Amino acid sequence: MRAPFGPAQGRSLPQQESTDVRLGRIVRLLMEHATVVVSGTKIAQEISSNRSEVWRLIQQLRGLGVDVAGHPATGYQLKSVPDLLLPEILVPLLRGTVFETHLHHFYKIGSTNTAAMAAAGQGAVEGAVFLAEEQTAGRGRGDHSWQSARSAGIYCSVVLRPALPPAQVLVLALAAGLAVQAAIAQVDGRVRVDLKWPNDVLIAGKKVCGILTEMNAEATRVRYIVVGIGINVNQASFPKEIEGEATSLRLATGSEWSRVELTAALLKSLDREYRLLVEQAKQPDARASILRRFAEQSSWVRGKQVRVEENGSGVEGITEGLDDQGFLRVRTAQGLRTVLSGTVRQQTSN
Ligand code: BTN
Repeated sequence: MRAPFGPAQGRSLPQQESTDVRLGRIVRLLMEHATVVVSGTKIAQEISSNRSEVWRLIQQLRGLGVDVAGHPATGYQLKSVPDLLLPEILVPLLRGTVFETHLHHFYKIGSTNTAAMAAAGQGAVEGAVFLAEEQTAGRGRGDHSWQSARSAGIYCSVVLRPALPPAQVLVLALAAGLAVQAAIAQVDGRVRVDLKWPNDVLIAGKKVCGILTEMNAEATRVRYIVVGIGINVNQASFPKEIEGEATSLRLATGSEWSRVELTAALLKSLDREYRLLVEQAKQPDARASILRRFAEQSSWVRGKQVRVEENGSGVEGITEGLDDQGFLRVRTAQGLRTVLSGTVRQQTSN
């Protein structure tokens, strides 16, 4: 959701703060031996270190909310599978997708989108994923910030390098919304999710997810795209300024969600949508299929009285579907207008 304070500040390079890979290795080892106590010596061998370093890393994991029993004299045992978005936990769930090979995890970062854009500029591969437990400068559309409390939400950015002209990128952004919707439905089919053009995912009219798509392109060719997805998962409340317009899956359903399960579902459905779009030679109607499904799943695309604002100017009227590039058509008093971007708000007649 958009927080009320101004543009996000801060840029951090991915290398600076990425998670100590030994933490993930320890978690994986403890998960593989979930029913037994694993000695400090064994863990030390696994991470090519010593027992006092293992103790220090275990304390670090505990500080991050991982429930580990034991101490150096007895060894260690996981009490429950941690809901951390560590590559060691996610990769096995992403086999066969474009996202399985280059997962980067951060306990704390400025913005996963900033990190992913910087990495893409330096040659990060298609399918590279940047996940954070917490963002200190999470960015939303229109230079707004994105509330990114630690381990409450999913803060995920992926690097894509589609052979598409820039004009078709909006369709990819719409496909990302469909992917979020499908992922939520896969985890709990009872949740009713609405899509607001172009990139908001709503539950009962409140925003549960925002998508920030950024690209680097030439006139006719995309070099790379970063799709950044923020999902409010287990937040129990929001700051006063945004509580009227934001919700989380936990607030909407009354129970905690597994971020690991939802992230895996998200990346798998994003993989499906992405393949559909880029393998157009095999599926010539892929773009039309995305636009049709988006329009079917959105209560905003047709027949809604709206005001769309972009850079201070506004368009008012009734939505009349998407054009073949995914732009929103609005029937105004002056005729049919095609809206290229902006914030859509419902207008209620007084
Ligand atoms: C919006 O609705 O305004 C878009 C919000 C996008 C937030 C996500 S969280 C992961 C990624 N990193 C960011 O800094 N922003 C996006």
